[in-house]
Amino acid sequence: MTICSVVGARPQFVKAAVVSHALKARGVREYLLHTGQHYDDDMSAVFFDELGIPAPERNLGIGSGSHAHQTAGMMAALEQAFLDLRPDRVLVYGDTNSTLAAALVAAKMHIPVDHVEAGLRSFNRHMPEEINRIVTDRLSHFCFCPTRTAMQHLASEGRTEGVHLTGDVMLDATRTFAERAATRRPLISLTRHEAGMFALATVHRAENTDEPGRLASIFDAFGRLDMPVVLPLHPRTRARLEDMDVPDNVDVIAPVPYLAMLTLTREAAYVLTDSGGLQKEALWLGTRCITLRDETEWTETTGGGWNQIVGADRDAILAGVSQAPRGPVPIFGAGSTDETPSEHISRLVAGND
Ligand code: UD1
Repeated sequence: MTICSVVGARPQFVKAAVVSHALKARGVREYLLHTGQHYDDDMSAVFFDELGIPAPERNLGIGSGSHAHQTAGMMAALEQAFLDLRPDRVLVYGDTNSTLAAALVAAKMHIPVDHVEAGLRSFNRHMPEEINRIVTDRLSHFCFCPTRTAMQHLASEGRTEGVHLTGDVMLDATRTFAERAATRRPLISLTRHEAGMFALATVHRAENTDEPGRLASIFDAFGRLDMPVVLPLHPRTRARLEDMDVPDNVDVIAPVPYLAMLTLTREAAYVLTDSGGLQKEALWLGTRCITLRDETEWTETTGGGWNQIVGADRDAILAGVSQAPRGPVPIFGAGSTDETPSEHISRLVAGND
């Protein structure tokens, strides 16, 4: 059994790290293909070093571009890679343009493609990720769902065959790496702030960065918080900030590696984010989350007010911060009790069911 796992963007390196480990334990030969979607060292290389992921078999070097240009470039390069490597299956993660490109190419070459993080829906087709998810799920042989809600979405689209509730590989990653993160650099050297005395923010979604009104409103809210806001900044957002006033309490820092991000997330008083994965990581690490989007795919996080979905309106953001509760946060996404999500996925991919 030979598989090609296709990754390209930051969160996919994290997910592939835990699944690759489980595949190896089952004796599956895996070729990791990096599309090159994320190419800055602090968006890519540092993750491979830190998470112990083997160097990719190939880096296709596609990089940034319009959606069509980027996806088409990846497709042409992936087709050649699949022709050369002749995988029995292709494994894709999440909802990026790298996911879509790999699913389309594999399906047309009659190679079964399996989707990790299947069945998520925001029901907002203005998000490129929503289009990527819908198409990838349709083309996939196995849909590996992190939650029951994701299974229900697929069922309501008429898809039940090949659909498995595996639990969430991000929970595997958080559990595996949070402990390691705790032994690393002390927090103070990361942020200059004491644990519990700062907010952690990330902003990178097109719907926020490409709408000057939304971005300004988000930064206005940050400026009104009564504590420092640590903001590891994605390069796309950094480019937008050149024409904006950044409030004095906002500490803009370079994108941080995964282990440091886990530490920051655990030690923050709260997290403000438009990321998908960070909403869950915050809760798993016991930190309240304020989500700077109009909807979430991770509806499990909103019970009990742990994750406040507030959009980009200044007053709604500030209200979300003041309403977020305190106390123990529920864990979700664990899947079955006798194997981890990564083990479950590898068992099915390896065909040992
Ligand atoms: C992509 C995913 C998004 C995911 C995110 C994870 C799509 C459609 N979006 O968004 O779902 O949450 O990855 O982080 O696939 N750039 C650099 N250096 C890099 C990478 C990007 O400078 O290493 C800049 C470029 O200006 C680029 C822009 O960031 O045009 C956007 O990058 P892109 O890969 O298109 O999407 P992301 O915003 O990273």
